[in-house]
Amino acid sequence: MKHYLQFSDLTASDYHHLFERAAVIKHRFKSYVRYQPLADRTLAMIFEKASTRTRVSFEAGMYQMGGSVVHLTTGDSQLGRSEPIEDSAKVISRMVDLVMIRTFEQTKIERFAAHSRVPVINGLTNEFHPCQILADLFTWLEHRGCVAPASGETPPKLDPNALRGKVVAWVGDGNNMANTWLQAADILGFTVHVSTPSGYEVDAAVAGVRSNCWKVFKDPMEACRGAHLVTTDVWTSMGYEAENEARMKAFAAWCVSPEMMAVAQPDALFMHCLPAHRGEEVSAEVIDGPQSVVWDEAENRMHVQKALMEYLLLGRVSQ
Ligand code: CP
Ligand code: NVA
Repeated sequence: MKHYLQFSDLTASDYHHLFERAAVIKHRFKSYVRYQPLADRTLAMIFEKASTRTRVSFEAGMYQMGGSVVHLTTGDSQLGRSEPIEDSAKVISRMVDLVMIRTFEQTKIERFAAHSRVPVINGLTNEFHPCQILADLFTWLEHRGCVAPASGETPPKLDPNALRGKVVAWVGDGNNMANTWLQAADILGFTVHVSTPSGYEVDAAVAGVRSNCWKVFKDPMEACRGAHLVTTDVWTSMGYEAENEARMKAFAAWCVSPEMMAVAQPDALFMHCLPAHRGEEVSAEVIDGPQSVVWDEAENRMHVQKALMEYLLLGRVSQ
């Protein structure tokens, strides 16, 4: 049994498989071909923080694959009344086939997984957001690594090695998304140019990556220079709201602007996991402009997570 608690839980070969399966599964969905390998399987989704994309993508994806979902939040379950996480894991995992959790500390999801009989997926913690980066990478490949477009019943052919040697510019907070980008770079062979305000740096020990997969830049403009992909995230992540005022001041220069996009590669893409705040971490011109692929990125959460659920429950399916 495998859990997906952080991006580094899977190998490059696993990711190559997932990208290929996501392309197959997405193509079937777009062609109205029913694909229900998870009939009679149940996914429990536990949310201790708010969500739009993660909830809808997992819930719709599980139904499309023939399964069912149970939605739990802190407020409407015993999780909010201090039932030990280990006890919750033992009980919930006797009744469902798969669990997705969005919570605060990574240690919480690790404790849950240690007592779970079924695979556990990280739907975002303070430290990591692996499902989002999985969607981002797939989106990047669709736009810049497609070697043969879909035709008839054949899905598009993506070349996962297209990401090798490329540069991603991370502009903003050294947060869960940044940590996960670093893990992806280490595993898939690209480099992240990271620019954060001082005091909000990435903690390399959290990401646990080799030093050659990322470089630090004081000036966000320099981080973007020559990048193939520019990406950012909110200045204040969920759970850090008390710091909002200080962050608004500290992050003022870390807004992805048309000038930053202009020094990136001419065909650079812009990504944002959403929700976004136009005028804060990104200007409206960029997120609503021609280089932005944020809507594909959001939609792809569902397709890649369907591939992930298939993999965790059924292994390397090939048909
Ligand atoms: N990107 C993302 O995880 O969005 P939600 O918070 O809406 O789930
Ligand atoms: N870094 C953000 C991502 C939201 C999807 C947060 O943790 O709130």
